[in-house]
Amino acid sequence: MEDVLNCLASQRDTSVGALCELLRIPSVSADPAFAVDVVRCAEWLAAWLGAAGFQAGTEATGGHPAVVAEWRGAPGAPTVLVYGHYDVQPAVVADGWSSAPFEPQVRDGALVGRGASDDKGQVFAHCLGAAAHLNVHGTLPVNLVFLVEGEEESGSEHLEAFVEANRERLACDAVIVSDSAQFAAGVPAITYGLRGLAYVEVTLHGPARDLHSGSFGGAVLNPANALAAMVAALHDSDGRVAVPGFYDAVVPLQAWEREAFAALPFDRAGFLKGLGLADDWGEGGYSILERLWARPTLDVNGIWSGYTGEGAKTVLPSRAAAKLSCRLVPDQDPVEIADLLEARLRELCPRGYRLEFQRHHAARPVLVPVEEPAVRAAADALEHGFGARPVFTREGGSIPVVETFRRVLDAPVVLMGFGRPDDGAHGPDERLHLDDFHAGARTSAWLWHLLAKGGTP
Ligand code: BES
Ligand code: ZN
Repeated sequence: MEDVLNCLASQRDTSVGALCELLRIPSVSADPAFAVDVVRCAEWLAAWLGAAGFQAGTEATGGHPAVVAEWRGAPGAPTVLVYGHYDVQPAVVADGWSSAPFEPQVRDGALVGRGASDDKGQVFAHCLGAAAHLNVHGTLPVNLVFLVEGEEESGSEHLEAFVEANRERLACDAVIVSDSAQFAAGVPAITYGLRGLAYVEVTLHGPARDLHSGSFGGAVLNPANALAAMVAALHDSDGRVAVPGFYDAVVPLQAWEREAFAALPFDRAGFLKGLGLADDWGEGGYSILERLWARPTLDVNGIWSGYTGEGAKTVLPSRAAAKLSCRLVPDQDPVEIADLLEARLRELCPRGYRLEFQRHHAARPVLVPVEEPAVRAAADALEHGFGARPVFTREGGSIPVVETFRRVLDAPVVLMGFGRPDDGAHGPDERLHLDDFHAGARTSAWLWHLLAKGGTP
């Protein structure tokens, strides 16, 4: 391992430079205007992995292409699937960036750019960890398959069918995913649970056209007022979601889990300070970590109606709309939850007004087993790479394909994030600390070595 680690250390600058190239490609999956860049990004990654010694290419999925790269030169050794995504969330300077989101810059020891942490930097750390072995030894200790998709940030719509169609080719002894975060800087984490997602859009249609708010206000129910009341009615005064049946399938938190969460070094004051908040909010009777990781939620992601331009316009809008998402926990089903929400909103819909209900993403919640040799290998690799033993966490975010891997490939999935919770994923000035990037690459190099040994007994 020493030669491999020396190789990584000697190539740090080149590695950061290569990651910058990757970050310069605006692979925004949600916006069709970037479709060409998405493909270019997939090709860049396939070419890099090809040059490193993998059999690599881009593959059609029905949506944005997936990168598949295989190295199967270790017969008898375990086969490991590395999953990640090369697509990113939209980003424009006007969102509050201090530099152009697709012109990465190193500032205060961190690489700032869209995708630095979520997920290009983390995926690339694994590319480096594998390439260092190939560079030094000409071989890898395990058979390695990279599956890097281009649709995660828009719901991984086509990936389930792709995994099913490629079930044999993707068959493996473990799946490694680095698309989450450390618990805190210097406290690496293995994540054993992800929330799911049900994302919908509602439009409330009222009067036939926009009206003068003086001539009609007071006689006509304003759809914006009405939608605000409907949305407000979706929570009770204790922060619980007020949709009948919403909690029916929720697996209650176990006593051991509540104890384990409470024992984590969570810094509530630091958490609030980082957000510029005086207080937290949420379902009564649960701690912040419990609410984030193991309780379901309902949130408005966007809400609009009427006049939102400069100055004032006296108008009573003809319609109002909102994008709503529910984060889900085992065993909630995203389709059932969307059904329940639709039913409740239809009940709340004012008489004579029309409610349009559209379904967007769905992702199933998942828990992954931790009593696995691959998890022990990952914990040891994190300790080598980051210099500290990982803690076990759940996360509030979603990675839709993880549940698919569990079901279709029936392999253990190890979620080991290299980023930090405050890397600013999805927000302005997203960054990846270079220390974490290099620690991630070292962790990856160790991981292939330790997985070949079958994990520590
Ligand atoms: N990397 C995140 C998932 C994540 C977030 C894991 C926070 C752990 C902590 C991923 O790229 C993501 O943002 N997923 C989307 C999925 C959705 C579009 C279906 C999410 O959670 O919003
Ligand atoms: Zn993301």
